[in-house]
Amino acid sequence: MNLKINTAQLSGELETLAGFSDAPAPAVTRVVFSETDLRARRYVKELCSAAGLTVREDAVGNTFARWLGREPGLPAIGTGSHIDAIPNAGRYDGTVGVLGGLEAIRALQRGGFQPRRSIELVLFTSEEPTRFGIGCLGSRLLSGTLDVAKAGGLKDKEGKSLDEWRKATGFTGDLRSVALLQGHYHGFVELHIEQGPLLEQHGTALGVVTAIAAPASLRIWVEGEGGHAGAVLMPGRRDALCAAAEIALAVEAAAKNSGAVDTVGTAGVCDVFPGAINSIPVRVRLEIDVRDTDQARRDAVLARIQASCDEIAGRRQVTIRTEMINADPPATCDQQIVAALATGAAKHHLSCEYMVSRAYHDSLFMARIAPVAMLFIPCRGGFSHRPDEFASSEAIMHGTLGLAEALGELAA
Ligand code: GLV
Ligand code: MN
Ligand code: MN
Repeated sequence: MNLKINTAQLSGELETLAGFSDAPAPAVTRVVFSETDLRARRYVKELCSAAGLTVREDAVGNTFARWLGREPGLPAIGTGSHIDAIPNAGRYDGTVGVLGGLEAIRALQRGGFQPRRSIELVLFTSEEPTRFGIGCLGSRLLSGTLDVAKAGGLKDKEGKSLDEWRKATGFTGDLRSVALLQGHYHGFVELHIEQGPLLEQHGTALGVVTAIAAPASLRIWVEGEGGHAGAVLMPGRRDALCAAAEIALAVEAAAKNSGAVDTVGTAGVCDVFPGAINSIPVRVRLEIDVRDTDQARRDAVLARIQASCDEIAGRRQVTIRTEMINADPPATCDQQIVAALATGAAKHHLSCEYMVSRAYHDSLFMARIAPVAMLFIPCRGGFSHRPDEFASSEAIMHGTLGLAEALGELAA
């Protein structure tokens, strides 16, 4: 089979999808369940239907577009990613895996391939943690990793729960029906931009992912004492933001001193109350992201952050409460899928290297119920989660081709 990617069509579709945004171009903001997200979903569903795929949605909005195989009773091969985008993001994170996955299916169709196993494209709900504070919401539920009652009660900043959002957006079924059985997929493979600089630096066309690092996130509330910024003298202050600033520095130090470059720690959210220039901050909410390829080392960093919080609370006379949002194990990719990806790349003389994903992806959770692997393409400077995120149409074409070859082999 001689597979050909329609690069012009795929680039046009990525461009159109990027237009569904709540931020001015080139930035993309597309928060799950926003009107913009719903319009973008409709666009992707239309493309899937136009390709002859059967579309279904589950109770949390995970969307499945199935190309029926010759033996439809067999576990399917899954591919896909997400289309939600964090505030002020770029246009390629997640979308390349969804639209590239669709184009891989179309390329197989055009090539006259008839899959034995069904091939299913999945658009996962809320891979990004923006609204509900936890990433990979859809794939956590699909893999039965997240307690359903807890999930339904997750609230956004305005206090609106996931269940309320589902009702408002038409995803009304029972959340318990979202989980898929072990064996539902024979294999799952996700195409994604690398979000790091290595492929570009090495001049390599494709990265075959062998493992996904272990993410964790913490929510920290600091409570001090407010007051007049002019009248309260410095010696008596219990400023919550100053304590929070020390926590952010403690996160940085704990990650830097872990003993390995693989440890990363970020304080990405800092909400200050009351948030007035002439008022001493009384309350702060921090959200902290810590990751490592080694789970034990990551957990040691989390423990060090907790110890720093205790020390800062005592010294600054503030209260500090920490809540672990998630602390997930890493995933190891499946050797057969890894081999299929490497073989597909070789067939087209595309250079490839094996690598670890430091970002998390829905594949981290799909790995709980199916063999998984991922295929990375280079992105300029390794930039991601920012408006200048960029992957060339050639890189996207290479990734889509490699994915199509692997899907073809796994579904045959
Ligand atoms: C995914 O968006 C991540 O933060 O790794
Ligand atoms: Mn992302
Ligand atoms: Mn992503």
